[in-house]
Amino acid sequence: MIKNTVPEHIAMIMDGNGRWAKERNLKRTAGHSAGAEVVRNITAHCGNIGVKYLTLYAFSTENWQRPKLEVEFLMKLLEKYLKKEVNVYLENGIRLKAIGDISKFSKSLQKTIKQTEEKTANGKKLTQILALNYGSKSEIVNEFYDKEQFIYDTKTEKWKTKFNPENYKAK
Ligand code: FPP
Repeated sequence: MIKNTVPEHIAMIMDGNGRWAKERNLKRTAGHSAGAEVVRNITAHCGNIGVKYLTLYAFSTENWQRPKLEVEFLMKLLEKYLKKEVNVYLENGIRLKAIGDISKFSKSLQKTIKQTEEKTANGKKLTQILALNYGSKSEIVNEFYDKEQFIYDTKTEKWKTKFNPENYKAK
């Protein structure tokens, strides 16, 4: 029987921000802002329950096709989020790691990402992995399942994975 198992690694594709906003007669951008708040809550919760890695697929290569203003909004939102969040990461032992090709982002956003990674490098509780400008969703999900080994340990009754963030570095 599987009971009280906390996965070592949880991966999520950020989705539904637009639908969430539409249902409330709000602009899509309001949905993205609400999505960022949810990320904050999920990250804190995952850290508290003992999840070690939380991967968030935040911006795919396909997302560049969105209206220019929406893309600009997302870039600003991410930069604002990281700048605001860095102290929360430090206080809570959270390490930030970005994966994907961030070289297409503005210099300022690249710098913010790198600085946040450097400042939080000693975080031991949880690693939050942000997938940014990553390949198509199916591609990345398939890659994840190909690379990971999910083993159920019957003694400890826990799922184990040999997750290695280095596997996901942009080539
Ligand atoms: C998907 O919703 C969401 C995105 C493409 C963007 C998510 C990114 C952010 C909110 C930027 C900040 C990131 C972090 C990690 C704080 P959608 O627009 O596809 O929604 P829909 O499917 O309902 O249209």
